[in-house]
Amino acid sequence: MPNAKTVKDYIRTIVDFPHEGIMFRDVTTLFADPRGLRLAVDQLLHPYAGMEIDKVAGLEARGFILGGAVAHQLGKGFVPIRKKGKLPGKVISEEYQLEYGEAIVEIHDDAIAPGEKILLVDDLLATGGTAEAGIRLIERLGGEIIGCAFVIDLPELGGRKRLEALGMDVHALCDFEGA
Ligand code: PRP
Ligand code: MG
Repeated sequence: MPNAKTVKDYIRTIVDFPHEGIMFRDVTTLFADPRGLRLAVDQLLHPYAGMEIDKVAGLEARGFILGGAVAHQLGKGFVPIRKKGKLPGKVISEEYQLEYGEAIVEIHDDAIAPGEKILLVDDLLATGGTAEAGIRLIERLGGEIIGCAFVIDLPELGGRKRLEALGMDVHALCDFEGA
């Protein structure tokens, strides 16, 4: 019998994590399933078939798992966008807002050459702050972002609109209502 499960069916919801009132959308159950992982990677790539892509950039931490698999599937290289202080070479940095306070993400300053076409990957789009910081880093290096691909969009938090307002093509495999 064919496997009719969708990507969304593989995602587990954990109530009150990391604190009360939050419905945590847990992609570890998607990643742990061989069909789930393959389905997610195939669907992340689907809109970009036939398009020229030079590199895949992934946002720490879960964007590394997906981005690495996507890059491998494309036969392209992978560029990590990491939280502050983790990359050993010369970096450029961008600050973004969290629910409480700020955070900083970094990229190696030689990771992307001007004009390279980049696919940005992460597991989840919420407010879009993390992705926007990643977009700024890639664009500061002269990269051209072909698309921003996520497994999950939380539309109520406005990330898609925020990234689209920056001129980005946003692709998400499923939505969840309620943050
Ligand atoms: C989560 C998620 C996205 C980001 C989305 O990462 O994996 O990267 O939040 O939120 P935003 O759209 O409001 O910026 P988190 O910062 O929890 O870190 P992790 O991936 O390292 O666990
Ligand atoms: Mg993350």
